[in-house]
Amino acid sequence: MTYARIEIAPSILAGNFAKLGEEVRAVEAGGADVLHVDVMDGHFVPNISIGIPVVASLRKATRLPLDVHLMIERPESYIAEFVRAGADRVLIHQEATVHLDRALTMIREHGAQSGAVINPATPVAMLAEVLDKVDTVLVMSVNPGFGGQKFIPGALEKIRQLNQLRARYNASFRIEVDGGVDPGNVGELAMAGANTFVAGTSIFHQPDATSATQQLRKLATEALSQRV
Ligand code: DX5
Ligand code: ZN
Repeated sequence: MTYARIEIAPSILAGNFAKLGEEVRAVEAGGADVLHVDVMDGHFVPNISIGIPVVASLRKATRLPLDVHLMIERPESYIAEFVRAGADRVLIHQEATVHLDRALTMIREHGAQSGAVINPATPVAMLAEVLDKVDTVLVMSVNPGFGGQKFIPGALEKIRQLNQLRARYNASFRIEVDGGVDPGNVGELAMAGANTFVAGTSIFHQPDATSATQQLRKLATEALSQRV
């Protein structure tokens, strides 16, 4: 498996839920690569968002791959249903299951791409034994549960570590970053090795989501091209 160098993944959590179709079209027009969908259960994180029916509706509204971020306890119980609803990628938290290896394998067996997510307090080393079972590693750069939070700088070092591990083992998982991503840090994140940039506030809370999407890609791409 190869990974795209840069992917912009607008997070629909920051969109207007009464106009999801329009929000999706705006970021499609800006060249979004995937749509990030945040699922919260009120237990793993202190917030409740959306679930299976919304994933199914989004599936009908776009051809973009759906990047479904499960912030739920025991995610293994719901993998089959989210894939059936249309998830192309299913991302589960290391902290949310004691059976991470089994759950990641289940995601692939159901025909979706697998992702492992780590919270800000969780070191990269916690994923050492499953790196061959993931298509994506997602580094949380905020504590999950809410959009619009401030980027936690420690995420940068974790992305660098993952980038080194990927090179050392000749692996090809994507490195994704989620939380507080904006025009001010996207370049540095790209240079650290991140490939997939989740952005909610910095896309949907801007006057024009289309140009905000284009701008993030431009800044990430420029930063990479200036690297010596
Ligand atoms: C936070 C979610 C994020 C959130 C990011 O728990 O996982 O995907 O939507 O929002 P911003 O980009 O506003 O930090
Ligand atoms: Zn997310």
